[in-house]
Amino acid sequence: KFKMKETFSALFHFILISSVVVHAFEPISTTIVAGLGTLGKKLYNYLFETCDDNWIGFNATGLQEDLEEKLFGQHVASRVILKAVTGFMNSENPKKPLVLSLHGWTGTGKNFVSQLIAENIYQKGMASGFVHLFTATAHSPHKVHLETYKAQLQQWIKGNVTNCPRSMFIFDEMDKMHPGLIDGIKPYLDFYERLDGVSYRQAIFIFLSNAGAEEIVHVALDFWTSGREREEIELKDLEMALSLSVFNNKNSEYQAHVMVSKDNKNLVDFFVPFLPLEFKHVVQCGMAEMAAKGLTPDAAVVDHMARDINYFPKDERVFSMKGCKVISNRLDFYID
Ligand SMILES: *[C@@H]1O[C@H](CO)[C@@H](O)[C@H](O)[C@H]1NC(C)=O
Ligand SMILES: *[C@@H]1O[C@H](CO)[C@@H](O)[C@H](O)[C@H]1NC(C)=O
Repeated sequence: KFKMKETFSALFHFILISSVVVHAFEPISTTIVAGLGTLGKKLYNYLFETCDDNWIGFNATGLQEDLEEKLFGQHVASRVILKAVTGFMNSENPKKPLVLSLHGWTGTGKNFVSQLIAENIYQKGMASGFVHLFTATAHSPHKVHLETYKAQLQQWIKGNVTNCPRSMFIFDEMDKMHPGLIDGIKPYLDFYERLDGVSYRQAIFIFLSNAGAEEIVHVALDFWTSGREREEIELKDLEMALSLSVFNNKNSEYQAHVMVSKDNKNLVDFFVPFLPLEFKHVVQCGMAEMAAKGLTPDAAVVDHMARDINYFPKDERVFSMKGCKVISNRLDFYID
């Protein structure tokens, strides 16, 4: 579909240029150009991403199916995400932007879920000009430059939301971000109707972090040890563990800084806990990955690969050390 668009795009430019040339030499063609104007506008909307429902629109069924079929082992996160995003996108007048804070062990699907959300809102998914990814480690400043970076980041958020209110910002490795920078983001997450003339209420902010991951693992391990089903784990079991770590951990400046506004309002709408992944989930990831590579999923190959990766705790080998993160590269090694 997009290849076709590229072809059209080239054609469109050609028509534009030739119509300008014709127009310059021959006044009679004005009517033709005017006719092209309406058509041209339609064509333009079709070819180039615009901030309207040609390119942006929420597909609740799509998100639900994606979460059910593509995200493995995250029954709690799936439910929270679907409820949060659907509620927000169906709301005519949200009082604040949607702020999600995704927590969990490496490779459990935090980035992947952000991608699924983007794909079911923006036609171009992560490649959309309205989806912005910010990685703390890549952008984080030395202390000296903090003010500059903060101003830049604020300008960046403001500029993009002015350009398109339905913008999405994903902040990766939030726990590594400088508290000063986090302070800079906070005003945009709040309940303001407008801030310097700009409304942020249609925007979506997603924070990813490993903060609280150990507490989540504890809960999952407790269930495992006492022989209870993983699917019995409920949000409240994790919230208890999370909020304790989130608010009491003095090392985690991120938590203390981002969660509340100056007047103590909670700026995060939903904490989304991601459970550590087990052997069977790694196998599921492996099968999906083989299919994504255009191969016929081979249970024997995937099983072999899944057996060879590292699990913790050391003796029980319950949870994958890196979740599904390295599966793609690993598989190449097992496929001959
Ligand atoms: C929404 O997603 C479903 C499932 O992926 C798909 O079948 C359907 O065509 C989508 N609807 C729109 C309007 O894109
Ligand atoms: C919007 O965000 C991009 C990064 O995704 C940035 O490069 C650009 O400068 C921003 N635009 C505005 C108008 O601030």
